[in-house]
Amino acid sequence: MSYETILTEQRGAVTLITINRPQALNALNSQVLDELIDAFGKFEADPSQLCAVLTGSGDKSFVAGADIKEMVEKDAVDFYKHDFFSKWTSHIVHAVRKPWIAAVNGFALGGGCEVAMMADFIIASEKARFGQPEIKLGVVPGMGGSQRLTKAVGKAKAMDMCLTGRMMDAAEAERSGLVSRVVPHEELLDTALKAAAEIAAMPPLAAIANKELVNAAFETTLEHGLLHERRVFQITVATADKAEGMSAFVEKRPGVWQGR
Ligand code: CAA
Repeated sequence: MSYETILTEQRGAVTLITINRPQALNALNSQVLDELIDAFGKFEADPSQLCAVLTGSGDKSFVAGADIKEMVEKDAVDFYKHDFFSKWTSHIVHAVRKPWIAAVNGFALGGGCEVAMMADFIIASEKARFGQPEIKLGVVPGMGGSQRLTKAVGKAKAMDMCLTGRMMDAAEAERSGLVSRVVPHEELLDTALKAAAEIAAMPPLAAIANKELVNAAFETTLEHGLLHERRVFQITVATADKAEGMSAFVEKRPGVWQGR
């Protein structure tokens, strides 16, 4: 598949995916989704690729939301029949077991905030702005904004954001636990790629297992989560990378990973 709305690039073991519709502030139309599904599928399937970074092109916007000009033509039957927005969860959130980071370089509104929250974590530039302004369009978030935002920042902030449609700046997003780091705008991509390269240099199975466990914390009780964690810990102890990692520590040398 050749891409028209996204750019992809491999930098060592890191895949950089850039949504490239700057004229529409990188709004998400169906073509963007299809291309992202393809790109994330290739990333997941390629054993040489161990971590990904998703960002938006241009200086102003990560993603300004689902494409309103596409949605304005659709009625409820269209949305229901095609279960619009469901592919994000099935093809990207659930299907991608390898870690990926959202590098938010500007507006992350509506579907943009929601896609950023699908990442394993968010690194934001000082210019980033987050919001769920769907209420101003007479609708509600459709890709997880009411759920993931609430889990990330709690009820008070999520209600405030969803009911007023206001934007949160990068500093507030970091204070609220929505983003892991805020960096100067011009350092954003380098910081995100460096973090991704650090993750890519880790034992790959342990990276996938750590991601799975942190995500499980949102879906389960503490007791089941702790049991799940112990079982996955016990499985990782059976890997060649555990033997190598612990020997390398004792022998004071870097580990060399097999991913098994
Ligand atoms: N869909 C389609 N086009 C969009 C868009 C969107 N979500 N956001 C911006 N654009 C387009 C604008 O229409 C404009 O195109 P034209 O030049 O052809 O008119 C171009 O991008 C530049 O935008 P602005 O001129 O509006 O730029 P600005 O700097 O004045 O404002 C902004 C920036 C505050 C982000 C403003 O564009 C805006 O409010 N955008 C809409 C944000 C929004 O409501 N997002 C939620 C969408 S609904 C959703 O995402 C549902 C869901 O949960 C899945």
